[in-house]
Amino acid sequence: AIYPGQLAASIQVAHRIAKVISDNNLEGRNTVLGLATGATPMAVYSELVRLYQQDGLSFKQVITFNLDEYYPMLPDAAQSYVAYMNQHLFDHVDIDHNNIHIPDGTLNEDDIPAYCLAYEKKVSEYGGLDIQLLGIGRTGHIGFNEPGSAPNSGTRLVTLADLTRSDASPDFGGKENVPVKAITMGIGTVFKAKEIILMAWGQKKASIIKKAVEEGISANVPATYLQLSDKVQFIIDTDAASKL
Ligand code: GLP
Repeated sequence: AIYPGQLAASIQVAHRIAKVISDNNLEGRNTVLGLATGATPMAVYSELVRLYQQDGLSFKQVITFNLDEYYPMLPDAAQSYVAYMNQHLFDHVDIDHNNIHIPDGTLNEDDIPAYCLAYEKKVSEYGGLDIQLLGIGRTGHIGFNEPGSAPNSGTRLVTLADLTRSDASPDFGGKENVPVKAITMGIGTVFKAKEIILMAWGQKKASIIKKAVEEGISANVPATYLQLSDKVQFIIDTDAASKL
């Protein structure tokens, strides 16, 4: 769906998430959310906070799994996705902090494969993701699944693409400070979600959105894999849609 602006689109997405949460709350069921970071979902999170504060939407039965985290990364570093999630959502709602899962950027590299398998297993133990939110990087990455990622890939340690590190450099005060690696859920992990919402706003996403939607499915643009699933919705604004 194409919206005139990112705010209207974000509110739509937040309301869809809120509907799933409140339906599940009424039934006494958990809601399992796959969450993304970056600039793209910020207004979704602020609308969810507003719904908590003003409409009594409770997050007590919400379980979250974040897509990714830089590696290495300390949780209290300003650039960590832990800090991002606290700032934009978790500090402002009644979520139980035991229900929050974000890949751990502090592990020894040797321990990462077992950790990733356990992360994956935990998602399925909770019954799988009800909704997976996605942004898109200019390389066509979803999560940090850079070009070359396999469609059945699982949670793992990856190396970031050069363009991804350039795009992140303002947050780190220079590209040389951007970690070279990250831990990310895989394409296969994302695909297991019951519903997938990819969002993109602005001119700078127009080329990659065109590739993601119109090009053949290929590992060169991991977001093209989303064409394979009928559970995926692209929610974009007119600027991001301008090359379609
Ligand atoms: C980062 C994140 C992705 C995100 C992408 C786009 O690389 N790991 O999950 O989708 O950036 O970022 P932004 O939303 O800031 O454009």
